[in-house]
Amino acid sequence: MVFKSISALVLALPVVLGAAIDRRATVPQECAFLLPIVDDLMNNLFENECGDAAHGALRLTFHDAIGIDPTLGGGGADGSIITFNSTELTFAANDGDFVFLAGSLSLATCEGAPQVKLAIGRPQPIAASPDLLVPEPFDDVNKILARMAAGGNFSPQEVIALLSSHSVAGADTIIPGLAGIPFDSTPSVFDTQVFVEVQLRGTTFTGPGGNQGEVMTAIQGTTRLQSDHNFARSTPTDCFWQSFANNQQQMTEQFAAAFFKMSLLGQNENDLIDCSSVIPPAPTFTGNAFFPPSLTHNDVEQACATAAFPNLPTLPGPPEVVPPIPQADGS
Ligand code: HEM
Repeated sequence: MVFKSISALVLALPVVLGAAIDRRATVPQECAFLLPIVDDLMNNLFENECGDAAHGALRLTFHDAIGIDPTLGGGGADGSIITFNSTELTFAANDGDFVFLAGSLSLATCEGAPQVKLAIGRPQPIAASPDLLVPEPFDDVNKILARMAAGGNFSPQEVIALLSSHSVAGADTIIPGLAGIPFDSTPSVFDTQVFVEVQLRGTTFTGPGGNQGEVMTAIQGTTRLQSDHNFARSTPTDCFWQSFANNQQQMTEQFAAAFFKMSLLGQNENDLIDCSSVIPPAPTFTGNAFFPPSLTHNDVEQACATAAFPNLPTLPGPPEVVPPIPQADGS
């Protein structure tokens, strides 16, 4: 069995390298070495799916990049988060670049995600980031906004744009004993459902409830972070949150800009090389946002004082129970 899978891999290799060589013509010479790595990550780490491995790679970008503070230190988007014993992470690309290469590529697996810019050439990280710089889901809105401003000079609007990533995400640690509990009903599509569904009145828990950082959700099988819930219901973020509901273009454009800004934390863009062309486009999303079965505009907890929540169709059928996101091996 082991022999069979190794020989399958060896036989497939010329195809993978061939595809990479074909694309060499379209990427700058300094970026061409990334192409076989791109194919390897897409095929073998992500298995071309917007699943658990892709979600994890996307989240890693945040945890690496936000590890920077004007007084406490930390190198920002420097790759310092990488644990060097992991097999998938020992590629030729510099560790400093690997986190954003993988995170940017993970988006290419998710229908609807923007094609984000990728700059490489980061020096090797110097030290681990200090602790306590990554926001927690039980931190209040002001605390998270202050941390995001101090660490990344992010505005409240940019923070909400970055949280579009929770459209392709779930919780592995918030609910003891449960993994891959999605934040919305479409965790493998980079759509605006998370902005719709978090605005709905919470009525239920997946699991027993009562966990730190978790509040009631509107849809069985999903979970809701207390921080996302509060962002949707507090000034100065509630209207930004609502503005993305059913506005795919606005969400993806603002996410892409904020994500690239995040990739440059602690780096000087002028010292980096633009290798954006190695990132393939994600499959296009053509749908519209919706209310999940049995839920309507009446279930919206309107928070933004200056604009009404959009009217959306309700999907037909009985109330949904969203299945967990299948977990990647060894993730
Ligand atoms: C700003 C405040 C943020 C807070 C408080 C927060 C909190 C969380 C928490 C608690 C989880 C679940 C962890 C677990 O139980 O496994 C999570 C998952 C995730 N977060 Fe965030 N997050 C924030 C911002 C971001 C940003 C900026 C990004 C990326 C650009 C991001 C991307 C993700 C992704 C992709 C996952 C899913 C990971 C997976 O399914 O394996 N988050 N986040």
